[in-house]
Amino acid sequence: MTGQNPAPDEIVIDTGNPHPARMYDWFLGGKDNYPVDEEMGRQLLALDPRVPVMAKVNRAFMHRATRWLAMNGVRQFLDIGTGIPTEPNLHQIAQQVAPESRVVYCDNDPIVLAHAAALLRSTPEGVTEYVQADVRDPDTIVEQAGKVLDFSKPVALSLVALLHFVSDEDGAYELVDRLLAEVPSGSYLMLSHATADFTPKKSEEAGSCTRPAV
Ligand SMILES: C[S@@+](CC[C@H](N)C(=O)[O-])C[C@H]1O[C@@H](n2cnc3c(N)ncnc32)[C@H](O)[C@@H]1O
Repeated sequence: MTGQNPAPDEIVIDTGNPHPARMYDWFLGGKDNYPVDEEMGRQLLALDPRVPVMAKVNRAFMHRATRWLAMNGVRQFLDIGTGIPTEPNLHQIAQQVAPESRVVYCDNDPIVLAHAAALLRSTPEGVTEYVQADVRDPDTIVEQAGKVLDFSKPVALSLVALLHFVSDEDGAYELVDRLLAEVPSGSYLMLSHATADFTPKKSEEAGSCTRPAV
């Protein structure tokens, strides 16, 4: 892990408020979540019972896209908004196709850091690394990821089910532009995003449930 990550005994898990990584884990049937995450998950289920299916379909998209990229020659992956490890993880898929694949994971939730060991079991030929950082701090991500990835060679930037947590005010578009500016021609952007297009009213209600209070 990069030297900038907090030490394990410095990790503080906030069990008083729901967190996206833990709610997603609950929707996927995982066990790395707390009652407060389940409670919010159930509120969202009441608004839209399709959420667990959407989580699984999203995960399947990440699997397919990673496999396609690896089969088409991509050997470097920067995955921001990684989530709690749920096998198979991105590096396992990429390294199954090409064992030499180099993968940098990044998330801002301390619970993902607490589970990072599960993300760091690489093939002998490849590398996996974890960076604890917020996507709204792309400079740190690029600097830390640059210790493992060669930004002069193609990189797949993975922003899967992440950007709906970043508001337009926080510069979601600019963040993507900023990150893509680091990677050369031949790189790819792997992205999925929740949409309010089909159920605008329910999506607004869901958004107001999950938005942090100010
Ligand atoms: C729905 S999960 C998606 C996990 C994984 N990418 C997938 O699609 O299976 C969203 C992840 O984004 C992370 N996240 C949310 N806001 C973030 C931010 N500002 N910076 C970095 N990660 C963030 C959450 O902690 C969570 O792990």
